[in-house]
This record gives sequence, structure tokens and C-alpha cells, in this order.
Amino acid sequence: MATKLDLSLSASLPEGDHALICLVGGNGELVPSLDKDLAAAVISAMATAQFAGDEGKSITLNLEARTVVLVGTGTTLTAGSSAEAIGGKIFAAVDALQIKCAVMPEHDLDDMVMADIILGLHMAGYHFEKYFTENSSNEASVKIDVVSSALGGDHALIKDRNALMAGVAMARDLVFEPANILYPAEFKDRCVALSELGLEVTVLDEAAMAKLGMGALLGVGQGSRRESYLVVMNWKGGGDEAPIALVGKGVCFDTGGISLKPPKGMEDMKWDMGGAAAVTGAMKALAGRKVKRNVVGVVGLVENMPDGNAQRPGDVVTAMSGKTIEVINTDAEGRLVLADALHYTETEFKPQVMIDLATLTGAMIVALGKEYGGMFSNSSDLCAQLSAAGTSTKEPVWRLPMGKPYQQLLKSHIADMKNIGGPAGGSITAACFLERFVADTPWAHLDIAGKAWSDKSTPIVPKGGTGYGVRLLNRLIDDWQPVTRDDS
Ligand code: BES
Ligand code: MN
Ligand code: ZN
Repeated sequence: MATKLDLSLSASLPEGDHALICLVGGNGELVPSLDKDLAAAVISAMATAQFAGDEGKSITLNLEARTVVLVGTGTTLTAGSSAEAIGGKIFAAVDALQIKCAVMPEHDLDDMVMADIILGLHMAGYHFEKYFTENSSNEASVKIDVVSSALGGDHALIKDRNALMAGVAMARDLVFEPANILYPAEFKDRCVALSELGLEVTVLDEAAMAKLGMGALLGVGQGSRRESYLVVMNWKGGGDEAPIALVGKGVCFDTGGISLKPPKGMEDMKWDMGGAAAVTGAMKALAGRKVKRNVVGVVGLVENMPDGNAQRPGDVVTAMSGKTIEVINTDAEGRLVLADALHYTETEFKPQVMIDLATLTGAMIVALGKEYGGMFSNSSDLCAQLSAAGTSTKEPVWRLPMGKPYQQLLKSHIADMKNIGGPAGGSITAACFLERFVADTPWAHLDIAGKAWSDKSTPIVPKGGTGYGVRLLNRLIDDWQPVTRDDS
């Protein structure tokens, strides 16, 4: 398991003098009821340390009787991101203890708050340790026993949060995996394995894609020794409604192709499948949670390599939609993969909406830094729902413009379009390119180049693969309202 956390749920306080985890409200009051002597000792030590229970603050008291970890909640503790953040703080505080082991006695909290604290613990405890062979790093090292008379392991809220976490962990795992292990066929196999959750998974190989005329996607993969795939994961939980479609860029490694990238930082391009990872993780979570919606996830899986068979700058390819593309830069490959994935998804499934996720442009990081995903859309309704879902899950998005003047930058002298605009507005022209492969469906494109991977840890997102998008999409689908296009 990719986790440092060994969490158990108990109905009553276990025997022994374990370290205790206690939440402290904003007025400095202890949330759990402790035995009288211990409570008095804690309160006096708290006063000495001037600990007032401010939100997210924590201290560890080494009292004579026990070690007590205090985590402040502020005056109001609500379900959702603030409860999750408290879970993250608890994990960090116990991880810092020498024994890395503690019990959280019964706290009189709303079930939803408690479930989200537990989700935060799991989010924070995630750890990709698969390739360590020393220090038994593959054993869970932080042990937390949560006492709750209401929430057992088979409580609906716990099952729901665990299924969500499983989707996040899968997306993070996929992003962490190196490209010699996670190439298109292996990614495809991991999608196929999700059929055990009730997802209907179908795979198109190169022959099947050639038959459909997917010249844009296949052109990207043709320089690689690895076979390309398009994988469809279909969740039918919503009767006969038109599905919500999620489409992901799955470039398992992006060397740039013949337009080769410079060596510095090229290793980052193992996570150029972060969009496909988010879609796959979201599908896993939705299926695990048995969400009552129809959702179809489609991922285009390729490797962008330079070799004797690779496509050349200047090549013209024909996409499945019939449009021709002059490939000026083979490093602008994600949009070529998505062109065919989007057209296939729209024509095959007639979705009520399409949302694609892609680590599409370095320019996205220039524009927004690493704080927001970029959002481009033909529907203000859809943007409003994505923004709301992003804010509440702390996976935020920020809308950028599209439109005619940008579209003009994609004009080619010999084909319907080029695959790059100029140096200006690179993320926008990339989105405009994608827009040409969406006929009349409400659609949004999320450029997650700045979000799929993080170089620093936050309380519930350890550094590395973030799983960004899984929770955003789950929330969007939970709160879903039908949308229309701005031009309809
Ligand atoms: N995968 C990259 C974009 C990227 C860069 C994602 C850095 C995450 C971090 C994409 O395929 C790419 O190479 N884009 C080019 C586009 C350019 C050739 C128009 C880029 O951003 O330089
Ligand atoms: Mn590229
Ligand atoms: Zn790429």
C-alpha cells in the first residue's frame, strides 16, 4: 500500500498509556473529555505554552502521565476542507513523535466532520514507496487509532471517503510511476483492472484507432516502440441520461519527439499523463462510491519519442474528424492526442458535457503559477460549477479567454490548421486548437500543467504526484446541474 498510515477505527479507548490526540477549540477548550487529573495537567501545560487552539496550530506535550498531541481547530470546525486540513495536521504531529503511534479518544463531533478528518489523515499519509528496498520503508510507519462509537469501518461515510481516497491514491500512483514501468500498455492494463468495480472498460489498440482514422493521436505515438491505446471506462449509474464525459491526456513520456526537449528537467515529463491519471482516478472513485450518474472516462495513451519512424515537423496528419493538421512542432503533442480523443468521445457517446484534463502547456505555469489549474470553456454555466467544485475541494481553477483573434493564430498555409500558434498566449492557442475538435457539446478544458506534480508538501498533499482533479471531478459530479453552451 502506498501509505505511511496504519489507521484503525475502534469503538472504545484501548487499554494502555498511548500518546493521545486531542482537538482544542478556538477558546482553548479541550474537545474530548479526559479523566480529571489528565485534563488538569493538559490545561495547565497549555496555558504555560500559550496554546489557544488556533486553527491548524499544534503542539506536543510530554506530560508525566502521557504524551498529548494538541491540534487547534479554531472556533468553528466544519466538514470539508477545514476538517481535512486538521486530519493533515494530526498526521504530521504523530509522524513527528518518536514512537509514531497515537490514539484519538472519542471526540464529540459531527459524523461528517470526523469522516473528513479521517480522509485528511489518509490524504496526508499517502506515500509512494514502491521502489525503496531499504529501511523496510514499505511498512506503514504511523499508527493512529481513532475511537468513535458512531463511525465503524463499514459506516457509509467512511466507505465513501475511502473510495474517494482510493481514486486519489490511484491517480497519485500513476503520476509517480516512472515511464519504463508505466508505458501505454501498462496504463491500459491498470484501467482494465478497474472493471472489478463495475466499470465497463474497452480498449482501442493501434489497429482499431487506424480504422477510425485517428491520424492525430497515432502520429504522436508512431515514433515509439510502445503501442498506443485509447481506453474507455464507462460507469452507468444514472439510467438513460446522457453521460458526463471526462477525457485525459495520457502522454506516458514526452521527450518532445523530433522537436526534442532540452535535457534539464526532462524527467518531469514522466507525469505528462497527469490528465489521464486524474480521469482514471476519478472513474475509480465514482465507481467505488457507486455514484448515481452516467460518466464515461476516455484516456489517450501514447509515448512521444524521436526515432526513425517518428513524425517530422511539417508533417500533415488527418484527424478522425477529417480535419488536417500541419505538425509544426512535435512537442505540441498533447493537443493532437486530445483532438482525436475528444472527437471520438463526442461522436461515440453523445455526452451532455465534455471535460478534458491535460498537462498541456508550460505556458500555463507562466500564466497562473502553481496555484490554479487553467480553465477554458464554451459554457459559463459549466465554468461556474467547476469553479465552485474547485474552491470547495481546494483543487481550484481559473478561467482564461478564448475566441477568434486567438483562433487566427492557428492558420496554416497548407492544411486546415497548424498545431501551434505563436509564442504569445500559448495556453490559449492550445485550448483554441482543442475547441476545433468539439462540435456542439458544452465543453471545458483544464490545463493542469502546474497542478499534477508538486515540489512541496502541503498538509494533505505530500510532494510529488498530487492526484489533482480527482476530487474536483467527484464534487462536480455530485453537485451536477445540466449546462448549456454560451452560444446556444
Ligand atoms: N507536456 C508539455 C507541457 C508541460 C510542460 C507540462 C511543463 C508540464 C510541465 C507539452 O507537451 C509541451 O511540450 N508543450 C509545449 C508547447 C509548445 C511546443 C507550443 C510547451 O509548453 O513548451
Ligand atoms: Mn510536448
Ligand atoms: Zn506533453
